[in-house]
Amino acid sequence: MSFPNPPSHRRIRSSGSRIPALLAVLVILPFLLVACGDGDGEVVNVYSHRHYDTDEALFDRFTEETGIRVRVVSASADELMARLEREREASPADLLITVDAGRLHRAVERGLLRPIDSPVLAETIPAHLRDPDNHWFGLTVRARILAYARDRVDPSELSTYEALVEPEWEGRILVRSSENIYNISHMASIIAALGLDEAEEWARGLVANFARSPQGNDTDQIRDVAAGVGDVALVNSYYVGRLLNHEDPDARALGEAIGLFFPNQDDRGVHVNVSGAGVTTHAPNAENAVRLLEFLVAEEAQRAFAEGNFEYPVREGVDWSPTLQSWGDFEADRLPLSTLGELNNEAVQIFDRAGWR
Ligand SMILES: [Fe+2]
Repeated sequence: MSFPNPPSHRRIRSSGSRIPALLAVLVILPFLLVACGDGDGEVVNVYSHRHYDTDEALFDRFTEETGIRVRVVSASADELMARLEREREASPADLLITVDAGRLHRAVERGLLRPIDSPVLAETIPAHLRDPDNHWFGLTVRARILAYARDRVDPSELSTYEALVEPEWEGRILVRSSENIYNISHMASIIAALGLDEAEEWARGLVANFARSPQGNDTDQIRDVAAGVGDVALVNSYYVGRLLNHEDPDARALGEAIGLFFPNQDDRGVHVNVSGAGVTTHAPNAENAVRLLEFLVAEEAQRAFAEGNFEYPVREGVDWSPTLQSWGDFEADRLPLSTLGELNNEAVQIFDRAGWR
């Protein structure tokens, strides 16, 4: 993409005196930089809570292909959203990349994302994995699976999320805090499937079967399964993938100690969520952000972007990484993920009433 020289540029060059020309350059330079940086399609500013080497390599490939430089600010999702709120119109951010449809929904509610009309995104990403109003788009898929102790649980004993409230699982279930967005979104999917009353009953039943009060992250749940604190943990699939491919042999041993089970295969399918992205409301380079989004759902990027965190591509027909292939195919819940955000409040209220801390 080319950018015409501003007329003032020529005047400077034709000037007989070097000093006024230099002064003029110094005065104009900042404006030229702004023009080059924001106006002519040479840069896209990404606020991302992903920080994988594979992402960096992909962004380099994007620059090679398009000439658009990618500048990344990495921080936690909450920090990035707070920063967008603070910066408002002055924000350099064009694209927000984060995880969980529930969180992306919050970003929309806070006015941080704008709707994007892209036939490429609409055709490539299944409808249930993106916002119906086009504020955000799923880029990779993760499943909320059951991680079980291989030496104490036979997978034939496992079936559905609902069955985990049976008395045989008393004192054996591990899960993280209900403040976590993964659990809030999962509960929202249970509400969508069972209705409010049954969902609350399920939450109470699960709390009654907890091995200990909720704590730690998903990796800690897996660690506690391996350590015998409990026998079955609710975790996102990629945490197992990370452990199995870890450079530390102890971490790999941890991954191998647990089995991975996809529940609800005979009904609605396992609960899935996405990592996703949206173009920011005040994006100075919105067109470039859309080009980057479209690049990220193309075949090459989909394989690499998903593999970076042992997730599934959103695009049909893209090969899964060897680890994911080893887990086999599965049925995934096709509930529109926008519903997860819409039921967020009901989910939080159920956690409160059920005593899931
Ligand atoms: Fe995570």
